[in-house]
Amino acid sequence: MNIIENLWQTDHIIRGWLKEVREDILSELHDPLAVAEKTSRKDLVTNVDKANEKKIIKAIRSFDSQAKILGEEGQGDQVTSMQGHVWIIDPLDGTLNFVKQRDNFAVMIALYIDGKGILGYIMDVMRNRIYGGGPSLGVFTQDNELTKPTNLHLRDGLLGVSGPMLIHDKYHLQAIDEASSGVRIIGSAGIEFIQVLKGKQNGYISHLMPWDFAAGKILAETLNLSVTKVDGTPVDMLSSNDVLVSTKDTQKDILNMIR
Ligand code: IPD
Ligand code: CA
Ligand code: CA
Ligand code: CA
Repeated sequence: MNIIENLWQTDHIIRGWLKEVREDILSELHDPLAVAEKTSRKDLVTNVDKANEKKIIKAIRSFDSQAKILGEEGQGDQVTSMQGHVWIIDPLDGTLNFVKQRDNFAVMIALYIDGKGILGYIMDVMRNRIYGGGPSLGVFTQDNELTKPTNLHLRDGLLGVSGPMLIHDKYHLQAIDEASSGVRIIGSAGIEFIQVLKGKQNGYISHLMPWDFAAGKILAETLNLSVTKVDGTPVDMLSSNDVLVSTKDTQKDILNMIR
């Protein structure tokens, strides 16, 4: 199937994969987890992260023979360029929340073709909501289309941040937060992006890997939000970045404060 010519059908298929992954997660939600430390006791991976990734990769491979797949847990491909069909997946975003709260975690899937964001999906598992779509479709959750958030200034709304960046005051983040209406720390990039897409937060700042922001970037840009590095330059889709997703006026306000 030609994906570009059949975007709505592809959208339906991807939502179907996500619903299946959700069923798997819920069926194991109260079972003991196999938890391993990656780089530290705050950087975890579980059997559920790995099983989700395996399932999503299998679904993508049987659907798209041209797929190159970048997945956090490494069961995909070594992706070194954004040429062709590049699928970027975070099989469980907010693993620490999943382990400690069984709440506030997401599953994310993005498709880029020749570097252009085509489709992005963020599933808030415990609220049973999939936010998905892309520039040709708009952004939908269930059957409701999201409207573009109001272009608020920094002082007029809440700002999501990563805890470590705030503690270390990177980019004078404490002053930036002081200038906003207030700061929020959720602990899942996917759930933070959803807050910005829905206009519940003006923005979100965090040090992120491609799978943390690939889907959110497509959805945010579709809704006229800005997604750049914190210094305003374009993000690199194949490495880590300090990412700012925000309304355009909030981005201007933050750039004025860090320059
Ligand atoms: C993490 C979460 C967290 C963010 C980290 C990410 P993971 O993703 O999105 O909010 O601050 O940078 O690594 O590892 O739980 O998928
Ligand atoms: Ca992780
Ligand atoms: Ca993540
Ligand atoms: Ca993850």
